[in-house]
Amino acid sequence: MSLADEARRNFHVTARVLPADLSDPTQVNRVERLIAEIADLEILINNAGFGVPGKFAEIPAERNAEMIQVHILATVRLCRAALPGMIARGRGSIINVSSIAAFMTSPGNTTYSATKAYLNVFSESLQDELKDTGIRVQALCPGLTRTEFHDRPGYEGYKTKIPEFFWMRAEDVVTESLDALKKGSAICIPGFRNRLLVAVIRNRVGARLIKALAARFGQRLEASSPTRR
Ligand SMILES: NC(=O)c1ccc[n+]([C@@H]2O[C@H](COP(=O)([O-])OP(=O)(O)OC[C@H]3O[C@@H](n4cnc5c(N)ncnc54)[C@H](OP(=O)(O)O)[C@@H]3O)[C@@H](O)[C@H]2O)c1
Repeated sequence: MSLADEARRNFHVTARVLPADLSDPTQVNRVERLIAEIADLEILINNAGFGVPGKFAEIPAERNAEMIQVHILATVRLCRAALPGMIARGRGSIINVSSIAAFMTSPGNTTYSATKAYLNVFSESLQDELKDTGIRVQALCPGLTRTEFHDRPGYEGYKTKIPEFFWMRAEDVVTESLDALKKGSAICIPGFRNRLLVAVIRNRVGARLIKALAARFGQRLEASSPTRR
């Protein structure tokens, strides 16, 4: 709520708040209805997301289903709700927040990577489909970013043990995303280091190297964190 106050105060805009748990299809319905009603919707940002690190076969099945619901089904439904109005007006933008995890297999983060890969293909295809409509669609693929994402259970040690070099500020991610949106890039990987990482991952030898390093880092975290054992 305080964020809405800040937006009203600093940018003189109308800010409405609609709390909704996007893992609950009924609540997604309410958001869909609101989106469809906004007559001058300029931009839809599907940002909600979370990780549940751990072995796929050990994570409760409901948590994987919730992630698919939030990352994929809610995003698809909210895009579908926004588009008829945007198409009729011949303008509008959609940003689906994905991840560089979309470009890699991630043992210990299997459903996360898979849902983000879906968002990339979905957003790129949608952008192709909408190319002559004046609407822009982007899958934003950040790497490690300083937010509350890694404060959740299972990520102990990430914020303190991964060197500062690998992290971006959320503000810088946003700036690069909006710049890329103006240029019409359907996939935005913010930060030179993240773009380099994705280029290495796409090379077969590079992918093996990154996997080995990630596995080693995972073992070190596990050894130093009692809650991950
Ligand atoms: N931080 C990173 O390193 C990183 C890297 C790559 C991609 N991403 C992606 O960036 C996006 C934003 O994450 P963040 O880094 O800003 O993390 P964050 O600070 O934890 O924010 C995640 C947001 O998603 C919301 N959310 C989670 N589950 C939800 C649900 N069931 N219904 C409605 N809202 C829900 C959270 O709301 P509540 O606070 O109310 O739970 C929160 O506002 C996510 O899609 C994430 O996958 C993050």
